[in-house]
Amino acid sequence: MTITDVTRSVYLDHAATTPTDSRVVEAMLPYFSEIYGNASSGHRQGQDAGRAVEDARETVARILNCKPAEIIFTSGGTESNNLALRGIVAGNSKNTSRIVSTPIEHDAVLKTLKQLETVYGVQRTLLPVSPEGMVDPEDLAAALSADTALVSIMTANNEVGTIQPIAQLATQAHERGLIFHTDAVQAAGQMPLDVKAMGVDMLTLSAHKFYGPKGVGVLYVREGVDLLPAQTGGSHEEGRRAGTVNTPAVAGLAKALQLVYDEYDERTAHYRHLRDQLIEGVLRCAPNARLTGHPEQRLPGHASFVFDGLDGNVLIMHLDMKGIAASSASACKTGNPEPSSVLLAVGVPYDAAFGGLRLTVGKDTTEADIEYAVSVLAATVEKLYRLQGMYK
Ligand SMILES: Cc1ncc(COP(=O)(O)O)c(C=O)c1O
Repeated sequence: MTITDVTRSVYLDHAATTPTDSRVVEAMLPYFSEIYGNASSGHRQGQDAGRAVEDARETVARILNCKPAEIIFTSGGTESNNLALRGIVAGNSKNTSRIVSTPIEHDAVLKTLKQLETVYGVQRTLLPVSPEGMVDPEDLAAALSADTALVSIMTANNEVGTIQPIAQLATQAHERGLIFHTDAVQAAGQMPLDVKAMGVDMLTLSAHKFYGPKGVGVLYVREGVDLLPAQTGGSHEEGRRAGTVNTPAVAGLAKALQLVYDEYDERTAHYRHLRDQLIEGVLRCAPNARLTGHPEQRLPGHASFVFDGLDGNVLIMHLDMKGIAASSASACKTGNPEPSSVLLAVGVPYDAAFGGLRLTVGKDTTEADIEYAVSVLAATVEKLYRLQGMYK
C-alpha cells in the first residue's frame, strides 16, 4: 500500500449516507412491480401493499418500544423534523409560543425554527453547548418558561458526534409538562433507541443513515401528543401525513432497522475499534489536529477534527484525489465557504472553524482502510502546511 494508490476507494462518510444493504434491496424489490398496489386501496393488490406497510410499522415500533400507531412514515429526516416542529406549533391549543433547542441542530431544525420565528412569531431559545458539544440539563431547566411549547434537542450531533444526555433533558421538559422531540437521525444503529427509556415524545429517523434507502424516514409521535399535519391531502398515516405511502421504501426502512439492531453488538464493536484506531492515528500523525466533540460520549463510528489554519474543503478535495471520501462539516454544507456553525457554537475560533474534518466509519470499513486513510491524511496535511508556509 502506498499513498499514491489512487485506485483505492475508502468511504469514510457514513454520517452523510450509507450504502443500501443488499438484503434491504432484496426486501424492497417485490414492492416495485409485483406488489405494486396503493397501500390505501381496498382491493387485493392494495391490501397486500397495505399489509407490507403495517408489517414495517410493527417492526419499527417493536425496535423503538412503542405502539405501531405511534409511527408515522415520512420522506426522511428533514420532513420528520419539519412535521414535529410545525405540527406542534399548528396544533398548539395552549397559546404558547417558544421552542427551546440548541445551536448545533441540523438545518432541518434550525432553518425551520428560523422560519417559524420570522413568519409566525414563534420565539426560539438556543441553549449554550459545552466545548465538547454537550447540553447541560440545568441550562435547559433555566431556559424553560411559561410560554414554551416544545423542546427539540438532537440525540447525537452529525458534525462532532457528541451524544446528549437525552433522558435527563427530557425529564426537565416533562417536569414542566412540556413535549420533548429528538432528532435521532445520526444515532440509529449506533446506540439503543428505546423511546420509553429515552423518555421522548417525538423522535426522528432517516433510513439512509442506517443502510436503508434514501427518501424515507420515521417520526415517532407518542399517543396523546397534539400534532396537526404539516402537509394536507389524503388521510394517509391516520391523517397525520398526507401522500401515498412509499411501500418499497418503507419495507426497506424496516428491514434496515431490523438488521442494524439484530447485528448491533458486532457492528458497534467494529465501529468503535476502527474509530479509536482512526483517532489515535490522526492525532499521532498530524500534530496540528484536534479532536472535536466529546472524547467518550460520542457515536461509535464518528471521528471529527479541526486542523488549525487549513481549509476543510481543500483537505477533502485532496483526500478525494487519493480515493478517500470524507466530509468537511455536514454533507449539506460541502462547498459552502462559511465556517461550520456547529464548530463556532462549541467555541472553536472563527478561523479554525474552516478546518473541520469528519471521518465516519461503517460496517464494511476495514483496519487497512483506516491505515491508508491515516497515512494519506498525514502526508496531505503536511504538504498543505508546507505549501502555506512557502506562500506566506
Ligand atoms: C442530524 C440530522 N438530522 C436530519 C438530517 C436530514 O435527514 P434526511 O437526509 O433524511 O432529510 C440529517 C442528514 O444529514 C442529519 O444528519
